[in-house]
Amino acid sequence: MCGIVAVTGYKKALPLLLNGLEKLEYRGYDSAGIAIINSENNCISCEKAEGKLKNLINNINDHNIPGTVGIGHTRWATHGKPVVKNAHPHTDSSGNIAVVQNGIIENFQDLKNKLEEEGIIFNSDTDTEVIPHLIQRELSTLSKLNLENNGSTLLVAVRNVLSDLEGSYALAVLWSGAPTSLVVTRRQAPLIIGLGEGEFICASDTPAIANFTNIILPMEDEEIALLTPLGIEIYDSSNERQYRNPVSLKVSEQIMDKMNFKHYMLKEIYDQPQTAKNWLENYLIKNSDNGQYQINYPFDTKFFESIERIEIIACGTSKHAAMVGSFLLEQFSGIPSNVFFASEFRYSPPPLLPNTLTIGVTQSGETADTIAAMDMEIKRRSSIENEKFKPNLIAITNRKDSSIGRQVSNIIDICAGIEVGVAATKTFFAQLLSFYGLAIKFAQIKGNQSSEEIDKLINELKNLPPLLEDLIEKHNKSSEKLAHDFFNIKDVIFLGRGINYPIALEGALKLKEISYIHAAGYPAGEMKHGPIALLDKKVPVISIASPGEVFDKVISNAQEAKARDAYLIGIAPDCKGTEIFDYLMKVPSSNEWISPLLNILPLQLLSYHIASHRGLDVDQPRNLAKSVTVE
Ligand code: AGP
Repeated sequence: MCGIVAVTGYKKALPLLLNGLEKLEYRGYDSAGIAIINSENNCISCEKAEGKLKNLINNINDHNIPGTVGIGHTRWATHGKPVVKNAHPHTDSSGNIAVVQNGIIENFQDLKNKLEEEGIIFNSDTDTEVIPHLIQRELSTLSKLNLENNGSTLLVAVRNVLSDLEGSYALAVLWSGAPTSLVVTRRQAPLIIGLGEGEFICASDTPAIANFTNIILPMEDEEIALLTPLGIEIYDSSNERQYRNPVSLKVSEQIMDKMNFKHYMLKEIYDQPQTAKNWLENYLIKNSDNGQYQINYPFDTKFFESIERIEIIACGTSKHAAMVGSFLLEQFSGIPSNVFFASEFRYSPPPLLPNTLTIGVTQSGETADTIAAMDMEIKRRSSIENEKFKPNLIAITNRKDSSIGRQVSNIIDICAGIEVGVAATKTFFAQLLSFYGLAIKFAQIKGNQSSEEIDKLINELKNLPPLLEDLIEKHNKSSEKLAHDFFNIKDVIFLGRGINYPIALEGALKLKEISYIHAAGYPAGEMKHGPIALLDKKVPVISIASPGEVFDKVISNAQEAKARDAYLIGIAPDCKGTEIFDYLMKVPSSNEWISPLLNILPLQLLSYHIASHRGLDVDQPRNLAKSVTVE
């Protein structure tokens, strides 16, 4: 989604901004721009381009911009088409103020109407453009008080404007009247300040600053900061000056390296055995007293004892991981559990029940719907005095330094390392593992599962890494061949049942996201209630058939599809019953509980190769953003 980079210091701003923006490309965007205080005349020079960053770079190549203070932005269109006039930065009418913004100003139309009545002419369709005009108005009011033209005055002007804005945002503001200053602020959108060597560099996401520094100052919600080459002043929403120690970033987790892979997505699929090793190393610990394995999550799990039910809130792929998790928590650990789309939960939450654990799942830790739904649940529960209704929270995330990391103290860090491909692969896998850990923990605490079954599950988890390596190696080749035959299809149906139903949904989502082929996942037993009408020989059916409780049922459902001439692809071990498939993507035979961790890999690889064969931008598919920070 939109990305912000802003810099002030002693070094040339342009290369710093472009480098930062390049690191934000993975988040998804459709136009880009920069504004720099030109050191030759102290005026703002602004450049924007539609499409990829390289278009902006081509424009700038013709006239290099001198200056050490600037802001940059990658825009993912919300208000107004992805065209140059809507790209950020946006300026006031005089061109003396430039603003980049992430998020949405919800009351922009009212503000715009008022400004238009005052004679302001707007040049874009964005919500953002109201901000520079409002700042300009504020600065002219302040000038009547004889305030000096400096960064402090800009800070006051921006702060006064914030009280008019509704919505969530991160902002960076330049003013030619204070040519070395930069004002930044955030409300429910991320922004961090990096302390570089000779520059302060501010960004909405850590990879944009990881090349320059590993020392950062995270900004808290509703804080505003003035940055000059001489230092940083941070104020809270009550205008109290804030002092805090810098923290260090784990740079290794922020460095983007495609190695020799054609795309990040393929590299990240290949990372999954290591993801499993990391999880086993971090979280599966042998108790030296009794030789038993335990899940070592970094919080006191005593409160689990009083938990009677679980609600899980997530979006997209994270929701699919949550669905597998919910299945495990109910069926393996015996705790009632429900999963909710965060975007639905916000507006129609279920009635409050006591002794509930709320789990938020978000790889980025910044998904606006998930953060808002969690926030609502925390407030709703905190407002009740009865102890049984208090919020019990866990967040499962890949970014413990994110908004959800600040919101929730019990964090399961999935430790997957940065994921650059917009389509989640290794983070999905790591989220699944986190739920296996929770299911084991609950089963051990609640005693609803036999210790033999728990040990069996733990053993299968321990044995995963070599199985995964082998699986990826085999299916990378076979799915490339399969993709050759299927890259031109129009529709695909994915079927799964029980614990593998969410895997069917995830398989379909992966294919849709990166190949733009229509795909839908269904519980296999639901096919005959409608979707079967879609089937003919042009619609392949991918059926996940893992030996266990529902294997025979899935095979019967696949028969029904075959009877309608559908080409059948099976994701299954080579066992009796699977001869029905026209093509078998073989997975190792396993305990049914563990099967999602194996079944997902061939599906990821197949989607990857189909999209790659179609010549598409696999890592940055159209219209998508890596973290969706608007509602
Ligand atoms: C995954 O491939 C998608 N890009 C998307 O569905 C994603 O999972 C969703 O936006 C939620 O993101 P989060 O995990 O960062 O909250």
